[in-house]
Amino acid sequence: MENFEDFENKSYVPAREVRYTLTDHLVFIKNFLIVVLKVALKLVTEIAEIVIELFKPKKPKNISGQLALITGGANGLGRAIAFRLAQEKCNIVIVDVNIKEAHATASEIAEKFKVKTRAYKVDVSDYDAIQQLKNDVENDFGSVDILVNNAGILSKISLREGRAADVQKVINVNLTSHFWTVRTFIEKMIENRRGHIVAISSLGGKIAFPLACAYCATKFGVRGFMEALYDELCVDNYETFIKTTCVFPAFVNTRKELSDVLDQTKELGPRMSPRYAANKIVEGMLLDKRDITLPSGAKLLQIVGFFPDKTMKYTKTNITPVSHLQRAERKPENFNKTD
Ligand SMILES: NC(=O)c1ccc[n+]([C@@H]2O[C@H](COP(=O)([O-])OP(=O)(O)OC[C@H]3O[C@@H](n4cnc5c(N)ncnc54)[C@H](O)[C@@H]3O)[C@@H](O)[C@H]2O)c1
Repeated sequence: MENFEDFENKSYVPAREVRYTLTDHLVFIKNFLIVVLKVALKLVTEIAEIVIELFKPKKPKNISGQLALITGGANGLGRAIAFRLAQEKCNIVIVDVNIKEAHATASEIAEKFKVKTRAYKVDVSDYDAIQQLKNDVENDFGSVDILVNNAGILSKISLREGRAADVQKVINVNLTSHFWTVRTFIEKMIENRRGHIVAISSLGGKIAFPLACAYCATKFGVRGFMEALYDELCVDNYETFIKTTCVFPAFVNTRKELSDVLDQTKELGPRMSPRYAANKIVEGMLLDKRDITLPSGAKLLQIVGFFPDKTMKYTKTNITPVSHLQRAERKPENFNKTD
């Protein structure tokens, strides 16, 4: 199904009934076993390659002179990533709704690293605006080599709180925008046989937490999107030259509205500085890592997802750091001011 126009007026055609014979089942089992055998062979070969690589560490790739576009790059984590990529001698495009701070970030980077920079005022959830952005960036610089989908709304809206429009906005900015930017910028990457797509998900994209249905759903969505994107690239062997990295950070000390809420609990432990997180992200990206969890120890939290119900409930409401957000102020709140 590719064309959804007039979908509701098309009559529903049920699938024809299929009856499977014993031979059909045997053929399926035979084919399945062949696939399992081939996969096992691949696995053994790849494990051997991984073991060899352990003794021969990978060299970080050189991205000097490449063009990096960072959404939400005016502030917070995006800004820190832009600085770190400029340190690698990338030219930098800052895309943000907050154009004043985007200009300031772009100018600071140009002055400090002597690379080309420019700021563009764009709402990443607007498909037409992203199309226009592509034309503008290509006229001003050329094609984008590194796309960092970082813009996001850090929302604390439970399912029953907040306005419907707020929930929709979180979904549009945090998830839909990834479809628009990747669809728009990937064509040139394929043509140039060079590209890297980085997505900032969240630890909330690996383990859900209370009072953040929309946020967690979008961050799980980004994770699914990046996995499916990688698989889609593999179909055409494009994954050999277009790399993907999905990042799952725990708390990063970015905007004050967020840190004020987090400060209400003493159990959360130290937050990462944006600079620390950006450094780890770019270091991982240079090694073509597909999955980066920050701090790496936070991967252990995923184990909660395998707990039986009562232990999971106890852990999420009492022990995991995110549960403390639940006890913090319970009014609908949106940490971002995007206008
Ligand atoms: N800060 C954390 O603790 C944390 C943890 C995990 C994941 N993340 C993710 O990291 C990313 C960056 O977070 P942050 O803490 O730096 O956020 P931030 O609020 O400090 O900065 C976000 C930037 O994105 C911009 N932005 C917002 N909506 C936009 C839109 N529609 N179009 C273009 N730009 C837009 C804002 O103007 C701002 O400059 C987000 O995707 C967030 O979900 C953050």
